[in-house]
Amino acid sequence: MSAWLSRKVSSLNLQELNEFDGSQEQKQALKELGKEFEITTEKLRSIVKQFTFEMQKGLERHGAKVAMIPSFVTGKPTGMESGTYLAIDLGGTNLRVCKVDLLGNGKVEIQQQKYIVPEAMKTGEMRQLCDFIADSVDMFLTEIDTDSYSEALQLGFTFSFPVNLRTINRGNLMQWTKGYCCTGAIGKDPGLMLQDSFRRKNMKVNVAAIVNDTVGTLMAHAYRDPTTFMGIIFGTGTNAAYFEKMDNITKWEDDITSEEMVVNMEWGAFDEERRVLPMTIYDNRLDRESINPGTHIYEKMISGMYLGEIVRNMTLGLVDRQLLFDGKSSPEMNKKWSFETSHMSAIEIDTSSDLADTQYVLETVLGIPSTTLMDREMVKTLCRLVGIRAARLSAAGVAAVMTHCNLLPQDACTAAVDGSVFEFYPHFSHNMMKALKELFGEEVEQKIKFSQSHDGSGLGAAVIAMQVSKGN
Ligand code: GLC
Repeated sequence: MSAWLSRKVSSLNLQELNEFDGSQEQKQALKELGKEFEITTEKLRSIVKQFTFEMQKGLERHGAKVAMIPSFVTGKPTGMESGTYLAIDLGGTNLRVCKVDLLGNGKVEIQQQKYIVPEAMKTGEMRQLCDFIADSVDMFLTEIDTDSYSEALQLGFTFSFPVNLRTINRGNLMQWTKGYCCTGAIGKDPGLMLQDSFRRKNMKVNVAAIVNDTVGTLMAHAYRDPTTFMGIIFGTGTNAAYFEKMDNITKWEDDITSEEMVVNMEWGAFDEERRVLPMTIYDNRLDRESINPGTHIYEKMISGMYLGEIVRNMTLGLVDRQLLFDGKSSPEMNKKWSFETSHMSAIEIDTSSDLADTQYVLETVLGIPSTTLMDREMVKTLCRLVGIRAARLSAAGVAAVMTHCNLLPQDACTAAVDGSVFEFYPHFSHNMMKALKELFGEEVEQKIKFSQSHDGSGLGAAVIAMQVSKGN
């Protein structure tokens, strides 16, 4: 293995690219890419500044890009909540249906089942999708032997898309993200549509709350740890929610007695006006070919649905310049979305001398006829550039919330985090913390703890359904 590759893979600087022992043209191409994908500390600062500005705008008025949606969730859970609730989670590959028994003392029992959402459902009619959800809930209740019940079951509906809420269980879908694009849904109320499917099937289930996954993640973690102030998703998509003072949500017009409310930021939409995000031609291409061009561009630079596709675009660029794979691609590599983010993870953790796992991904999975060690090293570098940029941009969002809430002078706090990128992408959390240290100094590590949280959409949605049904 070259000295260049044996380096610790958690960081990459432009200096390192000089030591890469490929041809002059290859070196030059990687250096150019390195420059384009670099987020310097100074750049990070300007992104954080714009981020806090857009957060403020979203709190002041309706219709801002970073929507800062009031969630109607006001109370922190105490951990003493009890009762049985249903929760469902729609927003990624699977539909998850759960029965949650809150037992008090921070204890909980969850029974759950996953149902694959057929691709056709994600792009078909919303009414059909809701019927599919109701059927799945029906099946689940039969499987766990709860199909006869006298009182309506209260359900927390984790619907991980931007919904402008009017009440805790009523609101309008603003737009689709993450590859969903059902017809008959935008501007409509997903809670009401699902309720209608339950009614048509004579099921006694009440949609008590529409919950964003970030809000669920925050509440689930807060059920066990009261220092939790933020819920973040770094998964198929990305977004965050945090406790905001009511006085700061100046666009809020109704009366309310509580002092705080969880705000669903919808931060994936940050910088849609393209003032600070350093989008490359590879990002632009991905955006143009996505189902929601021009929107959620921050999400497209960070989250699992998209990172592999950026690397695919870069790879094909180098192939076209005859700098990779002897100028040859493959039908699979030419297919949109074929380079999954999980392939990037496999390549990034491959430290074998001949990069055997990388070879497997490129040749066996993606059908490139043959690769040299140099080819594999180059693709690995592309993955690192995209992975490091994603972690640093993610840190900018976290830093903006910390700055806005003036958290640094305060006691240590916890951000609950869920999602495959955070959990599985090599060095992601390390690189994110590194960027935070550049912004706030070493001591930031003592100020914010990122805690992996798995049960947001189940436990979190159930806790919220419980708060609603008990009138908290
Ligand atoms: C997308 C959705 C948002 C969700 C996030 C993470 O950004 O718009 O509502 O929270 O993905 O799943």
